[in-house]
Amino acid sequence: MKILLLGSGGREHALAWKISQSSQLEKLYVAPGNAGTNSIAENIDLSVEDFEGIAQFMLDKKIEILVVGPENPLVNGIHDYFDSRPDLTQITVVGPKKEGAKLEGSKGFSKDFMKRHRIPTAKYGSFNYDTLDKGLAYLDSLPGPYVLKADGLAAGKGVIIESDLSKAKKALKKMLKGQFGSASSTVVIEEFLSGVELSVFIITDGVNYKILPEAKDYKRIGENDTGLNTGGMGAVSPVPFANREFMDKVENQVIIPTVKGLRKENIDYSGFIFFGLIAVKGDPYVIEYNCRLGDPETEVVLPRLKSDILELFDGLATNTLSERDVEIDPRSASTIMLVSGGYPEKYKSGVEIEIGAAVNSDLLFHAGTKEVNNKIVTNGGRVISVTAYGKNLETALKNSYDSIDNVSFDKMYFRKDIGKDVLKSPKKK
Ligand code: AMP
Ligand code: GLY
Repeated sequence: MKILLLGSGGREHALAWKISQSSQLEKLYVAPGNAGTNSIAENIDLSVEDFEGIAQFMLDKKIEILVVGPENPLVNGIHDYFDSRPDLTQITVVGPKKEGAKLEGSKGFSKDFMKRHRIPTAKYGSFNYDTLDKGLAYLDSLPGPYVLKADGLAAGKGVIIESDLSKAKKALKKMLKGQFGSASSTVVIEEFLSGVELSVFIITDGVNYKILPEAKDYKRIGENDTGLNTGGMGAVSPVPFANREFMDKVENQVIIPTVKGLRKENIDYSGFIFFGLIAVKGDPYVIEYNCRLGDPETEVVLPRLKSDILELFDGLATNTLSERDVEIDPRSASTIMLVSGGYPEKYKSGVEIEIGAAVNSDLLFHAGTKEVNNKIVTNGGRVISVTAYGKNLETALKNSYDSIDNVSFDKMYFRKDIGKDVLKSPKKK
């Protein structure tokens, strides 16, 4: 099989790493990729939004499968574009069409979808500038803290949690006046849920689904979950509190109604669904859907997937997903994100990275790197995700942290407390 993978983060390096282990792989291209993907695949200088350029490249190289890493091209309709061109119908796109990608692209749509299909989620209301008064009254009716979400994609920054009512009201006005551009012309206000978050992933052809290993990520920049939100500072899998009983609830109350709901609404979906969940007193609630894999979750989820991922993609291509196996590695995996000093605010790029020879370089997933004059330099806030296995989470984390000793660059920062919280929770049954 020939594959083109879109994206340039740690998620894509982990996907490329997993895809390149398949005996069925003939050739893997990554667009635009990073210094990590370049060492195991061929990077192609194409933007993920250049649908026409991507299509032409795939036709020229006779590539059968397009794997879309990030959400933007999906929300902007890359799959629909491929469907609309008769000369591209032979190509399988891993990732949903626009309508399915709305699960992530519109918070209002996803909340209404959950309500229609009785999927547990926080109580909410959707408001625009014309219904501002109703929005303010809705805030009055809630106990707080107040959760305000820009309806559209806002690069992970569109959620504001405010404990003070009058500040929440001000925040609502500011959002509706265009704080996040058109993404916040509609705002979803939600009841605040208190619990522990985790991420669950499936791959689905819209009828059948396979559950991948679950993970927990760490979004805040500071230790003990303090400071600004980031794209993710580390992740662990499995999640100790997500025992059999909890995961059964996730499957029955969340996954099955979601896949059935998509079918009922004639949304034909093919690709990954990422359920951002919160466990409230042992019950799962959906915080958000994403129409793709998570980053850095993928850097622990795919290392724990023993099965050949191309078998799963082929299952989507040939409508045989139900016949494919998902075998999971019993070992634990953890990943620690090394970031540029100053991230998620201002930081420097182009800083040279030193990687010692002792590192098991297979599991150093590059997130924001590029090669310049045969040197690897930083190219983003999140730079390298250091993944390791262990017989349990403690060992995996120790191995990840030990590996970090072999990587350095000026102003490198990472959290030293990844996984500490879940180690305290009861062991998985
Ligand atoms: P989202 O972009 O919807 O995933 O929200 C970003 C983050 O805000 C989540 O990961 C949660 O930590 C927090 N959050 C979102 N919705 C709620 C809620 N209803 N209650 C409590 N925290 C929330
Ligand atoms: N780690 C969260 C995300 O990928 O959205």
